[in-house]
Amino acid sequence: MTGKPAPYPVKLENVWFNARTKPLIKDISATFADEEGLTVILGPNGAGKSLLLRLCHGILPAHEGLVTWGGGDDPGLHDHRQAMVFQRPVHLRRTAGGNIDFALKLHKMPRLQRAQRIDEALELTGLSRYRAIPARLLSFGEQQRLALARAWALAPDLLLLDEPTANLDPAAQRLIEEVLLKMIAGGTRVLMSSHDLNQARRLASHVVFLYRGRIKEQSSAEQFFAGPKNDLAQSFLRGDLLWWRRRAVFAPDPDKEDDKF
Ligand SMILES: Nc1ncnc2c1ncn2[C@@H]1O[C@H](COP(=O)(O)OP(=O)(O)OP(=O)(O)O)[C@@H](O)[C@H]1O
Ligand SMILES: [Mg+2]
Repeated sequence: MTGKPAPYPVKLENVWFNARTKPLIKDISATFADEEGLTVILGPNGAGKSLLLRLCHGILPAHEGLVTWGGGDDPGLHDHRQAMVFQRPVHLRRTAGGNIDFALKLHKMPRLQRAQRIDEALELTGLSRYRAIPARLLSFGEQQRLALARAWALAPDLLLLDEPTANLDPAAQRLIEEVLLKMIAGGTRVLMSSHDLNQARRLASHVVFLYRGRIKEQSSAEQFFAGPKNDLAQSFLRGDLLWWRRRAVFAPDPDKEDDKF
């Protein structure tokens, strides 16, 4: 797309993020998107998945530590080499097509090319008939698809997705998964959070398991689903890692180090 280097790998070195004095992301050192494919971030509600994605996108500054993209400090937000779809998508007061057009205009794409790209993006995500409808009138699931359509249209090298199919019906979910697989086959690297273990099994090449702001396990998807080493990850896979039962399930608490926070 441009002569600039790709925004991967994304490297975090001793990264902390705090709310007031409470640490929410705790001393994470990890490398993401260093290989092709899709990395899924798994973890219970409140584990810090959305915060970690925002740190990786560069829109949330770390309180301590360093985040780099392809060895540099530019996440590629300005030239759209990197795009993110948020858990709660935000759209401009424009039509569905107008929202994609705006993003492409920022990318300096010529008008004719833009019109074609918008058609393709809406078609891919099953939204063609909403092209002229104000984006904010779309249903929540449709808005989520529109956010992905906009990201797809930008053809990013690295795509960050925060639970992109959480509100979609099964047919729309399948459609989105097909779009993602096409993007991955085309060389886009994806870092995505999901609660859906079956979806993670279908799409992921790598897995990160996050718990209370710490990475407890990071491995290939094959290794992870064959049996994670971490006991919390094992419980999560079995479906019995519930945040409100943590103490009851684990006595004595196996995660004592985190309790000082
Ligand atoms: N700005 C903030 N101030 C205080 N607490 C925050 C802030 N942002 C996030 N948190 C807390 O940090 C924790 C992690 O939040 P985050 O949204 O990253 O979780 P998550 O893993 O994405 O959860 P979910 O699966 O529900 O989307 C939560 O307990 C949340 O309440
Ligand atoms: Mg979240």
